Amino acid sequence: MMLERARQRLRSAQRVVVMTGAGISAESGIPTFRAAQTGHWARFRPEDLASPDAYRRDPETVWAWYAGRCRGVQAAQPNPGHLAMAELERRQGKGFLLVTQNVDGLHQRAGSRRPAELHGNLTRARCESCGLKQPLNAQEPFTPPSCPHCGTVMRPDVVWFGERLPPLALAQAEAAFSSAHIALVIGTSSLVEPAASLALLTLDTGGTVIEINPEPTPLTPLATFSLPMSASRALPALLEGWS
Ligand code: OAD
Repeated sequence: MMLERARQRLRSAQRVVVMTGAGISAESGIPTFRAAQTGHWARFRPEDLASPDAYRRDPETVWAWYAGRCRGVQAAQPNPGHLAMAELERRQGKGFLLVTQNVDGLHQRAGSRRPAELHGNLTRARCESCGLKQPLNAQEPFTPPSCPHCGTVMRPDVVWFGERLPPLALAQAEAAFSSAHIALVIGTSSLVEPAASLALLTLDTGGTVIEINPEPTPLTPLATFSLPMSASRALPALLEGWS
């Protein structure tokens, strides 16, 4: 059975890399981006809210959307998928990197130590003038924070469409996917680059790709094992029976 074979491979792998997307947080009640009825992009156009142009045009609207999402994730709790991921990191020790496209901080709250955050984190604000980052206080009534260092109005510490990914996080991810024995790809539609293509680096270098997603994605036909399950069921099941 596919799950059992994937479990055995994972158990014996020395180097493991993981990519997570919005699907792992769906069972914590955080909306994904592309779900047909409830996803963010079913209700808003990305260019109206998640782009540098949108922010320049209407910073209040963009900030209001991020502050609302921040309050949502702060009220949510990590689910068994996040907790299993932190457990996998503890078991693997050094040969492990968690890479996430998520901006909700739930991996850290579940105990993951240093996820490489490819798209930033909406629970932080960042100063575009001096680079200072700080936790976001999103409580209502909300006003966009000013930088305590230089006084500039800060922006959400996320990556918008058309912006570069954080170079260090991306370099870490590329190195880990290129040398991993196993890449686990969980809860992402595998549509947004460059995150979507990282698992191909693992396949190109002879590694195994395990995809966990109830729906098929462009990665599904290429993956070594495809588990059509929710993250909160599949991840604890993959770790079952380990000492
Ligand atoms: P998407 O909304 O594109 O995809 C979420 C995926 O999670 C879908 O393939 C679902 O089938 C799957 N899914 C849903 N529930 C799940 C569950 N319980 N367990 C496992 N999988 C589940 O979200 P992302 O792929 O994360 O970028 O989106 C990638 C990027 O596009 C985001 O980081 C964001 C967005 O635009 C930026 O904002 C820059």
